[in-house]
Amino acid sequence: MSINKEQIKTALAHVLHPTEKQDLISLDMIHDIIIQDKYISFTLEMPEKNDALAQQIQRQCEEAIHKFIDREAVVDIQVGINVSKRKDKPEQAPQQPQQKQEEVLSGVKNIIAVASGKGGVGKSTVAVNIASALAKDGYKVGLMDTDIYGPSIPTMFNVFEKPNITTQKKLVPIERHGIKMVSMGFLVDVDQAMVWRGPMATSAIKQFMTEVEWGELDYLIMDLPPGTGDIQLTIVQTVPLSGAVIVSTPQVVALDDVRKGVAMFKKVNVPVLGVVENMAYFTPPDMPEKKYYIFGDGGAKHLAKEMGVPVLGEIPIEQTVREAGDNGLPIVLADDSSFSARAFVGATENMKQQLELRSKSGETTKKVDIKFRP
Ligand SMILES: Nc1ncnc2c1ncn2[C@@H]1O[C@H](COP(=O)(O)OP(=O)(O)O)[C@@H](O)[C@H]1O
Ligand SMILES: [Mg+2]
Repeated sequence: MSINKEQIKTALAHVLHPTEKQDLISLDMIHDIIIQDKYISFTLEMPEKNDALAQQIQRQCEEAIHKFIDREAVVDIQVGINVSKRKDKPEQAPQQPQQKQEEVLSGVKNIIAVASGKGGVGKSTVAVNIASALAKDGYKVGLMDTDIYGPSIPTMFNVFEKPNITTQKKLVPIERHGIKMVSMGFLVDVDQAMVWRGPMATSAIKQFMTEVEWGELDYLIMDLPPGTGDIQLTIVQTVPLSGAVIVSTPQVVALDDVRKGVAMFKKVNVPVLGVVENMAYFTPPDMPEKKYYIFGDGGAKHLAKEMGVPVLGEIPIEQTVREAGDNGLPIVLADDSSFSARAFVGATENMKQQLELRSKSGETTKKVDIKFRP
């Protein structure tokens, strides 16, 4: 039997706030409940930042769900701060200078996030090859590497130069093969970025969206860091994403992370355009008719079906894909007759089709307004 929201609210109504002496539901602290099978996610809204208290409440919530609903439920709680709920508002929180909404990436027709639950599944590889396929087709394409702690765009395009800054203090993207690109790897040494604290990383990403001369683009592809953390939240709050592409590998262990990724985007109303299954099978070069499903077959397909999102493509594991990535020329540009290049081009076509379906259905893309700060 599947879990429903009412059950979750009932369970959380058993959790008393440690100091307020009321339960979390009466205090209206639980929002955005999402359920996918045994994966349960929601936001715990706090009136002010208090990590110790938040952690204590998170633990209580998890216990209540395990006790009253399902001992195997995976509970994923995000903490949000909603200052307006503070009882004693001593001084107004200083207003952030509001960026005019229409200025942020206003020349960009489609903004696509390429995301995954885990690192190493081939997210950057998918992002650079989608960007390459689009550029090859004559579209105006941008590529934004938002993986501050593990940028891969420099290596994948063999770009190691510092971008120029305009007199308006805007960063000029570096252009290769018709793709305008920006990466933290162009600006700082990777080991230097490693020590950045969260807030520095999120503000760097904000600048990539607001202070880069992207100009007119048909597609901006964003290579996201793995997981569902602060950077991802910052992005969905700063720009109106047209959709997300989730990358996975076929191993069962990767699927739970996909579930989390899909749920995160759905929660903030960003359409999930589909799943790209990377390293899906192996075809020996001398046996082109064979497909060996080394890591298992069908996992991602089942999951996509269960979550109501399409599979955009299955990319084979191919030595030349990795070599192309290491040599600075994505496989779609290096050898367009290879199995993987054709698979990437197919996945890109399917992605475009999904975008078209969206725009025909009249759903406009909006920046996500989340009323609390992460
Ligand atoms: N289909 C593929 N076949 C062979 N190697 C691949 C494939 N996809 C990715 N790789 C390699 O796997 C490694 C991790 O890929 P990457 O795109 O950097 O993952 P992520 O961005 O998710 O961390 C890289 O060395 C990449 O070249
Ligand atoms: Mg990467």
